[in-house]
Amino acid sequence: MGAEVVVEGLTKSFGRQTIWRDVTLTLPPGEVSVMLGPSGTGKSVFLKSMIGLLKPDRGRCEINGVDIVTCSEHKLYEIRKLFGVLFQDGALFGSMNLYDNVAFPLREHTKKSESEIRKVVFEKLDMTGLNGAEKKLPGEISGGMRKRAGLARALVLDPEIILVDEPDSGLDPVRTSYISQLLIDLNTQIDATILIVSHNINLARTVPDNIGMLFRRELIMFGPREVLLTSEEPVVKQFLNGSRIGPIGMSEEKDEATMAAEQAQVDAGHHDGGTDDVRGVVPQIQPTPGLGERAGVRRRLDRVMSILHTLPPAAQQGIRDSLTEEDRARYGAGAGATTALRPSPHPRNGDGGWQPASGDLNVAELPTSNYREPRGGQ
Ligand SMILES: Nc1ncnc2c1ncn2[C@@H]1O[C@H](COP(=O)(O)OP(=O)(O)OP(=O)(O)O)[C@@H](O)[C@H]1O
Ligand SMILES: [Mg+2]
Repeated sequence: MGAEVVVEGLTKSFGRQTIWRDVTLTLPPGEVSVMLGPSGTGKSVFLKSMIGLLKPDRGRCEINGVDIVTCSEHKLYEIRKLFGVLFQDGALFGSMNLYDNVAFPLREHTKKSESEIRKVVFEKLDMTGLNGAEKKLPGEISGGMRKRAGLARALVLDPEIILVDEPDSGLDPVRTSYISQLLIDLNTQIDATILIVSHNINLARTVPDNIGMLFRRELIMFGPREVLLTSEEPVVKQFLNGSRIGPIGMSEEKDEATMAAEQAQVDAGHHDGGTDDVRGVVPQIQPTPGLGERAGVRRRLDRVMSILHTLPPAAQQGIRDSLTEEDRARYGAGAGATTALRPSPHPRNGDGGWQPASGDLNVAELPTSNYREPRGGQ
């Protein structure tokens, strides 16, 4: 099973600019999570902080009991071997062909022979649809191919934790579906803990077990997918539906006057730029037939059912609706109950219940995936 990643109170600034503060979440081992957030909210900075490429100002990021924020360089080097990372720009070496780029971590971190390396490299190139392109330089291929080559390179060490920054950017919708399927299949095969940073709503709706969102320098939500997908929170609603109406603006956040003016335009019949409301719980992508089941799905369901009563009603309903007959038998009364089943082992807000978010953006009140107390939530 992949490693658990525990992030607590993580804060990152560049000079006087705070990127995000007090980020607390746990990536459950072997589950797939997605981090959403408008452009510039610090998703890539978060990902780089998780592997110690950027140094947070405060907080912990613990992997297998090692806090990578404070550990020695030597420890960090060891911990990094657990990770496979696809950076937003692919981060390929421009002077190396794709074969050498993908082989690089194997040559750097393992004692494999060239023939063993060749086998792994071709397997990963095949997986990412790059067979035949191995002799090409990064500058000679398309953006989408570079992205896939970066993913192939991220996978060669059979990582316990896979971080992928916008795997879909530069990819057409069909290739994006293939990448989504690939990530689910990978998780099925190696049970790795996966964090995907993305703007892609379709991917966010169909791939992850857990979803989080960064906005206005905070992690406003992190938890079971059903929570975000059914959220009434204006910023989440706006983001999922890709509408101009809501708190997210073109550059920084909007003021009240701009929001009111935009709403008036839409009320007068002007298109809000969005789609039909796509909120709601849709089925997750299944592993390719023949691969078996994802162990993470069962573990997640056990976990989610134990905190079901702390979740917002719409999320509870979404979870219940997705249960099979077998699940209902397994979870018994819990699968049908509409009120508290049993007290949470880590009660929040004193009563173990979920606190509806207020009208503003402080929706970090939602339970995180490991029932960790959010900031200020005591
Ligand atoms: N090395 C750096 N030095 C100074 N500021 C930085 C650095 N890296 C990122 N930033 C700033 O941090 C903020 C967040 O950047 P980041 O790249 O994490 O955003 P993002 O959420 O990944 O956006 P996008 O969706 O467009 O990729 C930006 O304001 C950016 O300018
Ligand atoms: Mg980014």
